[in-house]
Amino acid sequence: MPRLIVDCDPGHDDAIALILAHRHAEVVGITSVSGNAPLEATTANALLVTALLDVDTQVHAGAVKPLVGEPLHAAVVHGVTGLGEVERVEHSRVPASDDAVGFLLDAAAPDITVVAIGPLTNLALAIERDADWVSRIAGISIMGGSAGVGNATRVAEFNIFADPEAAAVVFRSGVRLTMCGLNLTHQLQTDDGVTERLRRVDRPTARFAAQIFDDLHGRMVTLLGRRSAALHDPCAVLAVTHPHLLTIEPRAVDVELAGSLTRGMTVVDERISRRRDDANAEVAYRIDAPAAMEVVLDSLM
Ligand code: BDR
Ligand code: CA
Repeated sequence: MPRLIVDCDPGHDDAIALILAHRHAEVVGITSVSGNAPLEATTANALLVTALLDVDTQVHAGAVKPLVGEPLHAAVVHGVTGLGEVERVEHSRVPASDDAVGFLLDAAAPDITVVAIGPLTNLALAIERDADWVSRIAGISIMGGSAGVGNATRVAEFNIFADPEAAAVVFRSGVRLTMCGLNLTHQLQTDDGVTERLRRVDRPTARFAAQIFDDLHGRMVTLLGRRSAALHDPCAVLAVTHPHLLTIEPRAVDVELAGSLTRGMTVVDERISRRRDDANAEVAYRIDAPAAMEVVLDSLM
């Protein structure tokens, strides 16, 4: 079973990714970061998921803002709570620490992969504190960026756009990096059929996930005019737990920090003339969406 640390900003899809990760991996810890919602909310949401799962995975709170500038949140997608209006199980859990970076550094081991599904602030701070950290872990699998369309801007994806300087530190660090960007995650879409299947199952995670999708689909009607949503963050978990479901290619990728239209864009070298010997990332291009959706749903039931 893979051993993971999940760095996250729950977030509807982060919550699903956390459940999936606990079903198919040993989650040695969770670190939270400001992103979809303020840090206090994302940390509370991560704790909520551990309570729902009845696991003792510790949550370490992390960065309250990006390396540069002010925090960016995604209330339009996730609500001000980060999880919209979903019901919250009662619990008394509190974070194990407010030192996510210290935890990331201390927990490093050759068999640990960090699945990063929010802005990359905590990871960049870990690398800035100890550049050798990246050689002491198996790698990092991120949901972030895109080899194509953006969402926060025309060309920038939210997790990268929310902290481009941090993303640049990670992409330039020499770590073994897998990138599940929007070009991939848009292939894995939930719809009301998924919610209906979950409603037929009398289990806490199924009830919770049905509410998550219902809430998210409602928001997508306003945003996109349809009741379906891309299941972004679980893709970065699947890249570690079910790599056979993804088609991945080595590419040179860097993060645009200066462009007036392109800040936060992951610039992927797609030139066919390149031999790829300068690749610093494994970029995911295709996912077997029907099979991936079954794995995700099975983990929720
Ligand atoms: C990413 O941004 C967040 O809204 C989601 O949780 C996901 O990590 C998609 O761009
Ligand atoms: Ca996220």
